[in-house]
Amino acid sequence: MGGVVMTPVIDAPPVVASPPEDELSTVVTSEPRPQADTAAAKEKRTNGRSSTQRMPVGYHAAAVAASVMPRLDARSSDGTILVMARQVGKRVVVSQFGDTPLQALESYVSLQPQERPSPGEHEVLVAVRSCAVGWVDLLMMSGQYQHMPEPPYTPGLEYSGEVAEVGSGVTACVEGDAVMVDPFIAGPRTSGTYGAAGGFATWAVVPERAALPRPRGLDFDQACNLLGSYETAYHCLIARGRLQAGETVLINGASGATGLAAVHVAKCVGATVIATGRNDAKLKVVAQQGADHVINSRAAEGEDGVSRFRDEVKSLTGGAGVDVVYDGVGGPISIESLRSARFGARYLIVGWAATPFVARGRGQRGAPNANVVPTNLIMMKGLDVLGCPTVIATQHDPSIRRERLQAVLRWVDDGKIVPLVSQRFALEAYDEAMRAKWSGKYVGGGVVHPPSVL
Ligand SMILES: NC(=O)c1ccc[n+]([C@@H]2O[C@H](COP(=O)([O-])OP(=O)(O)OC[C@H]3O[C@@H](n4cnc5c(N)ncnc54)[C@H](OP(=O)(O)O)[C@@H]3O)[C@@H](O)[C@H]2O)c1
Repeated sequence: MGGVVMTPVIDAPPVVASPPEDELSTVVTSEPRPQADTAAAKEKRTNGRSSTQRMPVGYHAAAVAASVMPRLDARSSDGTILVMARQVGKRVVVSQFGDTPLQALESYVSLQPQERPSPGEHEVLVAVRSCAVGWVDLLMMSGQYQHMPEPPYTPGLEYSGEVAEVGSGVTACVEGDAVMVDPFIAGPRTSGTYGAAGGFATWAVVPERAALPRPRGLDFDQACNLLGSYETAYHCLIARGRLQAGETVLINGASGATGLAAVHVAKCVGATVIATGRNDAKLKVVAQQGADHVINSRAAEGEDGVSRFRDEVKSLTGGAGVDVVYDGVGGPISIESLRSARFGARYLIVGWAATPFVARGRGQRGAPNANVVPTNLIMMKGLDVLGCPTVIATQHDPSIRRERLQAVLRWVDDGKIVPLVSQRFALEAYDEAMRAKWSGKYVGGGVVHPPSVL
């Protein structure tokens, strides 16, 4: 049997080429911006609070607030205590890469105090309300992902929150605005100044153009589970896979964050979805979320690999097989999926959740455990095998983003896309949150909520 070695793309361009500012500013307009920040409006938004508060003598702040806001008290002439709060929040820090994500979590990831940073002239200080817990966040912590942020850094690729402060030159948003931070411009999936500013933190300073308005109809938890997963689904299924209404797509890893987004996007374009997974309870949710058919791919007790699900796929497609395969799982399921495809189908390589350690730990490059797929099946079935790295493709050609962002935001506006958020954790429970994601404990997205000191 011939073999083609499928290695991950590890030579990403060193600098993130974000779409030019005008590309995004004309696209992201889901919510009107206030024209000007009046003193009255600001007073209303902050309820008159600021980092300097007047409190009566004898007032004792709640213990929880005291733990995040060390006080520098001074008595004023009218007998009140002037509390000049030096606001201190919390952030998760990855101090160095581990051998594996779980070993990194054990040894090199910690919760630390975070002083309130100040934004520069064209920057925005975001008080993070919610941050997605990503599979990629975990893989990054051992340097086994294709992009390596430089430790120490704060994880959390995608987050949303309120604008806590803006630099003097900022015009796109005002204090109090609800925003989602563009993961293509700031956070650990980017290179340069903002690469250390992940959302597992009370605050993040981001460039003005990264602070996108939170779409109408989405809460903070949903908003931080939008762009990464849905832009990936769009790039893979539509830009690369050319999925059409009336076609049938097989989606592996459909219970995951990007897999479930793929189910939603495929339904938006009018395709029939056959979803695979290893857990009946999770597959039931996937079906409720729109998949037309679900298949448990788990092998029979005592057997290796996956079930022979090609028979079920063939019977669901009149014997032909599927038009498109969306494969975010890799390993044995890829072979069975190749056998489930029709002649001339498009096979989308999205990820390898089943075989994550293609690179060695601690940021060492190389692909000792690369996936291998049989070239004979590809050849005899006349398949188009397409690599689908969303961020890397966008770095090579930033113009491809405009159309997909427009489409995703339009579907959100129309109520056709609502990211599923199944689990919520306090930031302090980041370890539990990350382990739950790594072991696939829930369907779709999970989030952490940093402590608020607004
Ligand atoms: N191409 C891109 O641009 C792009 C962008 C983002 C992510 N990705 C990649 O896509 C993959 C999925 O990411 P995600 O964020 O969706 O992760 P996720 O939320 O953790 O979901 C992964 C899913 O894969 C399935 N899975 C995990 N281990 C498996 C195994 N051993 N065998 C079979 N299925 C397994 C699980 O479903 P069940 O437990 O239900 O089986 C799980 O729900 C990752 O490899 C990631 O790096 C690619």
